[in-house]
Amino acid sequence: MKNSRFLNALLRKPVDATPVWMMRQAGRYLPEYRATREKAGDFLTLCKTPELACEVTLQPLDRYALDAAILFSDILTIPDAMGLGLSVNEGIGPRFERPVKTEQDIKNLAVPDMEDELGYVMNAVRLIRSELNGRVPLIGFSGSPWTLATYMIEGGSSKDFRETKTLMYQQPDLLHQLLETVAHSVTDYLNAQIAAGVQAVMIFDTWGGVLTTRDYASFSLRYMQQIVDGLNKGNGDDRIPVILFTKGGGLWLEQMADTGCDALGLDWSIEIGEARKRVGDKVALQGNMDPAMLRAPNERIREEVKHILNSYGEGSGHIFNLGHGITPDIDPAKVEVYVDAVHEFSRRGCC
Ligand code: CP3
Repeated sequence: MKNSRFLNALLRKPVDATPVWMMRQAGRYLPEYRATREKAGDFLTLCKTPELACEVTLQPLDRYALDAAILFSDILTIPDAMGLGLSVNEGIGPRFERPVKTEQDIKNLAVPDMEDELGYVMNAVRLIRSELNGRVPLIGFSGSPWTLATYMIEGGSSKDFRETKTLMYQQPDLLHQLLETVAHSVTDYLNAQIAAGVQAVMIFDTWGGVLTTRDYASFSLRYMQQIVDGLNKGNGDDRIPVILFTKGGGLWLEQMADTGCDALGLDWSIEIGEARKRVGDKVALQGNMDPAMLRAPNERIREEVKHILNSYGEGSGHIFNLGHGITPDIDPAKVEVYVDAVHEFSRRGCC
């Protein structure tokens, strides 16, 4: 590996500078991404064509000094493979043709076959690894069972999670049954990505933060724990680090760190130095600049990067990232300011 900063920081080994990447780094803010999506025709075809998924995965790496690549795909590939009929349209977002509405729908759900139904993802992983040729490590990912369940039940994005919370409070056992099937699927999915060549995995629990503390433990964290326990993580130098990210999960960092994961992703609401005090030596931390900061003047972006590096403090175990995905309106020139500032200010302990 030519650049192991990212994997070393995840395992809290020494690094020459803080590694940096960005959630949604391949996306609509890049004109070359929009051109490839145009060529594909639509977003899902882009995900399902390994050559094109590989092309967009590499695009941000050609522009910026990023320390990791993330597989270009989506968290909704699993419910799509379960037969819910996914479409993703500009301005509307993701939609399922056959959302999960009844007890029978839940009982009919089966764990998809990874090579038959999601083979296009594993083919993309193999192709990207070969094209990267050791330049930077490749991150694989999945949604958390809770987050996937909200999309499967609501039929798309939601503001208030009305149907999911109704099921949770009226028929909790049924929701648990759904979460069990999804947790098995996510475990198989991430293990298949690991077998195909991803070098770290991240679980996106985008909607865990809408739960009460008690419900977070039983409807979200419990299933992420099952996944962490079931992953083929390997040992020593071959260990595949696991990152858990619950957006809005700042209250629950200790419990998350106790799952045995290697790192926690942080949104921007918490001071990273405070988070570090709370989790101690248990895990590395990834984050956490507000993506909206990329609309600020360059000097303000640089100042914020310096602040976050200083707040984390000395020593390894920090992976710089945004607190959530970059949005389509961002000027690509701002990303260079952000990435370069992380390396400039963190090199040889200057901060
Ligand atoms: O980070 C990366 O660059 C890897 C690719 C990636 C995408 N989606 C590409 C994508 C990843 C890791 C995701 C995860 C994802 N997908 C999450 C969890 C992370 C998060 O942001 O909280 C969620 C909740 C989804 C579901 C989903 N897929 C949404 C809400 C949308 C956006 C719809 C919209 O129009 O804004 C998608 C589509 C999607 N996934 C796009 C991209 C680049 C945009 C689609 C397009 O090109 O039109």
